[in-house]
Amino acid sequence: INVLLLCGGGGAEHDISLLSAKFFETTLENIPEYQVQKVELNKQGQYITSDGEICELTGERQLRHVAEPSKNWPIDFVIPCIHGYPGETGDIQSYFELIGLPYFGCDAEASRNSFNKVTAKMWFSALGIPNTPYLFLHQLDDQAISETQAAFDKWGSVFVKAASQGSSVGCYKVDNRDDIANVLKDAFKYSPYVVVEKTIVARELEVAAYEYQGEVIASKPGEIICDSNSFYTFDEKYAADSKASTKVEADNLTAEQLAKIQAYSIKAFKGMKLRHLSRIDFFLTEDGEILLNEINTFPGSTPISMFPKMLAHNGHDYGEFLKDAVTRALN
Ligand code: DAL
Ligand code: MG
Repeated sequence: INVLLLCGGGGAEHDISLLSAKFFETTLENIPEYQVQKVELNKQGQYITSDGEICELTGERQLRHVAEPSKNWPIDFVIPCIHGYPGETGDIQSYFELIGLPYFGCDAEASRNSFNKVTAKMWFSALGIPNTPYLFLHQLDDQAISETQAAFDKWGSVFVKAASQGSSVGCYKVDNRDDIANVLKDAFKYSPYVVVEKTIVARELEVAAYEYQGEVIASKPGEIICDSNSFYTFDEKYAADSKASTKVEADNLTAEQLAKIQAYSIKAFKGMKLRHLSRIDFFLTEDGEILLNEINTFPGSTPISMFPKMLAHNGHDYGEFLKDAVTRALN
């Protein structure tokens, strides 16, 4: 089986995708029945092999070497290890679907619905899963600023989030009312839609929700522990001197909280028609309220990332999980 490991992508999470791809490379090395080619989709939209050669991903489901056609390579399966655009936005999956190329992960529609913070919230509410109160903005004008000020007055402090970015890119915590206009301006640079959310004082719990042998499984939640003055920003996630830490299994959850979080995860996975893998992030407030924060359809697998750790902690080997997904996608 020829497996194309596609990584990078054109968005703000390009470099994180490269880090995640290292994990897939190592995992795939231990699966002798797969021949693997790693190709980086660079920010200009070119496909570049590990040897630096430019390729095309053609409608004949092959990796076409532009300079050396003898190296053309038929593809059976793709792993689109791309966070953000065009992986989690569903764009690249649409292309795979168009050319009939089987792939790992959620389909185009489920990816897009989950990635956009506005559509995701509509889905969560439609499925009856509690989520954070928010305000939706579709343009930057005086009305958007005054609505955000009113939200700030009501909620104390707010998060302003570009609707279609991951890894906390275009995401700002606003503690000072005077900052609102500038922050909105920054957020709109990243997305034509912005959500303003109530700041939730809460524990941050993450669940690996995935399919294995035909069943949807929700792991026990892990926990992100941030510096109390901050939030889990891009730097807190990936910088070497980050003060954030993670726990593969959160302590001190009641049996009821655990059951509820796992049930919401499975409901979201099935209801939004996710496939193969996802990481579902929750808040647990001081009052014991559980709110769905977001769904990551291609969760990170960098050394600090939770999905691979939670899967392993839940008793599953990543290689076996991947093989199961590939086998089912090919049949
Ligand atoms: N968006 C990052 C990669 C994550 O969800 O892990
Ligand atoms: Mg995310």
